[in-house]
Amino acid sequence: MKKGIKKTMLLTLSGLAVLLIVVLVALFSSSGIMRTSEYLEPWQRTYSQQFEDPRIRLAAHGLLAANGHNMQPWKIRLDPKETMVFFLYADSDRLSKQVDPFARQTMISQGTFLEYVQVAGVELGYKTAIELFPDGNYDEQNLTESMDSKPVAKVTLISAEPVKSPLYSSMYLPDTNRAAYQKTPLTAEQLNQLESINTDKDITMKIYQDKKNMEKLGNYAIQGAIIESGVHRINEESAAIFRANEYQKNKYRSGFSLEGQGTSGVMKHIMQGLITIFPSINSEKTSADIFVKSTQTAIDHTPAYAMIITKDNSRIEQVKSGMLYSRLVLTAHQLGFVIQPPSQVLEEYPEMKEQYTMIHREYADGGSTIQMFFRLGKPTREFPQSMRRDVMDLIDASEGAEK
Ligand SMILES: Cc1cc2nc3c(=O)[nH]c(=O)nc-3n(C[C@H](O)[C@H](O)[C@H](O)COP(=O)(O)O)c2cc1C
Repeated sequence: MKKGIKKTMLLTLSGLAVLLIVVLVALFSSSGIMRTSEYLEPWQRTYSQQFEDPRIRLAAHGLLAANGHNMQPWKIRLDPKETMVFFLYADSDRLSKQVDPFARQTMISQGTFLEYVQVAGVELGYKTAIELFPDGNYDEQNLTESMDSKPVAKVTLISAEPVKSPLYSSMYLPDTNRAAYQKTPLTAEQLNQLESINTDKDITMKIYQDKKNMEKLGNYAIQGAIIESGVHRINEESAAIFRANEYQKNKYRSGFSLEGQGTSGVMKHIMQGLITIFPSINSEKTSADIFVKSTQTAIDHTPAYAMIITKDNSRIEQVKSGMLYSRLVLTAHQLGFVIQPPSQVLEEYPEMKEQYTMIHREYADGGSTIQMFFRLGKPTREFPQSMRRDVMDLIDASEGAEK
């Protein structure tokens, strides 16, 4: 009898083990665990070295920059006559029209790219002369046409002695960390180091770590998240750029993925497998709840907030804000700090208008515009790198770019 029970138990256990293996195999293969993560190749230090053309080399660094919705809205035209000149255009096929109706974040993302190009230039031996809007301003009434025809920047490379840049290696770290931060505030010296990065008189950078402002700003961040997560068309826009597994990530190489929520390793593959097999797990309601909950956790573990504020809201100021943001991110990394911009409250769609107006009334005087609002602190854990496109996809083929 005892022997019989033992046998049944053994059979049950081995049955369960087989079932577990079958389930894991199904999850892992749906996740694409065996696939090479091509979407991470641009993060390899050797990646840019395969390109002879220094303009492509530098662009391969630019695309590592932070950018709204990870849309990587960049197009490069290599000057066919001047081999040290390229033009950066905003890619009008990569806008997030619901969440960023005036393409303000898209323009900030041009600046983040340009600053990375500049920092890489120093290390690789090129001075980069950047002229913003060399063919004049956009026609705002015909914005997408303007983006296609007018460059955001003309970048001229001038050979120079390579100089080891302390910021260079920070470019290879993920720019955005959405996890909880340690309590440690910035020291007076660190504050000074970050605040002194800005030298533009039309731009103000403020860092807050006092109790009153921390409470107020945390409240804006959570209100922004609650409002945004209740806007169906925005949820749809975000869902459409969510890449559920390795196959999709290698195909699109932009947009959102589980790495953006800090998930990596085996857990990432289990989650990716589940979402691929049962897409309803990632329903609008579930995603909204996760977003609000993770924002609350982030706010509860934030020692400082900061803002980049510009006098006016011109396209040039937006681009310059992006350049400053990139420099801040890199400097913060050097100091051992990480950053996340909970941008919802700065977004210009009707449902956010009240919060947008309130935060501007309180923190941006005289009609100035808050371009970036971000939390910063020492990380409690590392965040994984997110998808990046192949730099050759950014190069306008009509110019006959060569590898
Ligand atoms: C203009 C702008 C707005 C952004 N807004 C948000 C945001 O609201 N919440 C967030 O978590 N990250 C935000 N980010 C960060 C991007 O999502 C992030 O840079 C992108 O997904 C690539 O990831 P990485 O920075 O880790 O490389 C923003 C970045 C920029 C440049």
